[in-house]
Amino acid sequence: MQKTKLRSTCEKLVAKGKGILAADESTNTIAKRFAMIDLPSTEDNRRDYRELLFTAPSIEDYISGVILFDETIWQRSSDGRMFTDILRSKNICVGIKVDAGVKPMHADTEEALTHGLEGLGKRLHKYRQAGASFAKWRAVIKISDVLPTDACIHKNMQALARYASVCQQEEIVPIVEPEVLMDGKHNIERCYAVTRQVLASLYDELRQANVCLYSSLLKPNMVIAAKDCPNQADSDAIASYTVRCCKETVDEAVPGIVFLSGGQSEEQATMNLGSIFNAGKDCPWAFSFSYGRALQESALRTWQGKNANVAAAQQVFIKRCQANSRAIGG
Ligand code: 13P
Repeated sequence: MQKTKLRSTCEKLVAKGKGILAADESTNTIAKRFAMIDLPSTEDNRRDYRELLFTAPSIEDYISGVILFDETIWQRSSDGRMFTDILRSKNICVGIKVDAGVKPMHADTEEALTHGLEGLGKRLHKYRQAGASFAKWRAVIKISDVLPTDACIHKNMQALARYASVCQQEEIVPIVEPEVLMDGKHNIERCYAVTRQVLASLYDELRQANVCLYSSLLKPNMVIAAKDCPNQADSDAIASYTVRCCKETVDEAVPGIVFLSGGQSEEQATMNLGSIFNAGKDCPWAFSFSYGRALQESALRTWQGKNANVAAAQQVFIKRCQANSRAIGG
């Protein structure tokens, strides 16, 4: 019974032409985003911004789920409705970020381990009562001349598997997110090799932890050259490496793969998603998006923290949602 319910949530999240809005920026991260428009990160500003996104007209035509941060899951809109009720009334699944962020693995390293396993079962139970049906945990893998280390990959994938197992015990769909960062100068071949190692390790750990892969979703990076790499690969190469990497590592039981945007521009993220969708038509998974920045950046710049700009910002946001939906056959 439990597996069936979780599987149907997965299928709803990756329904044809629909994807996920990651609006789960931590208080630190949203402060950085607001700094781009010189807006102080107060609780009211954060509430107003999330309200703008969640009440955007026809959001439900393109967005199947929204990932929230802890603060937002308990918040109400300006007219007093719980955000969770607003989303669920539009048939949008409520998701929750449950990792507690990253800490350095040890002194003198740029590598980090994601924390948050302590008390996770209890928190998930509370979130489910508040209406959440899926969760997200993000592990971060950095590439340099000498990184990543096997230890960093192993410890992070173990934590992801533990998280996924606890989620399923609490009847919450786990989205497992191992993000290989775009920072640095590495080329697409190096991103492919590292992403392949990371995903292979992740599925080893998930199987060892007896996670039901049939009721889980993967949120990976696309296989792409680093931001400062002089040889940027084109969209077809990104799609071909990404689909190949998934075929070599991701279990066929997994219902869907929802990509993060990871610092790509809005247009790049949409174009690359479309190419992956087209290149992966023979794959067993649904391909979709779970974007943060690539859905929000121009909307945030249009808003500027001003009431008068809300409708214009909502239009810009919906345009991005629609473009990504179209990229995956919506
Ligand atoms: P980006 O699409 O901005 O990478 O955010 C997705 C996300 O949820 C990162 O954890």
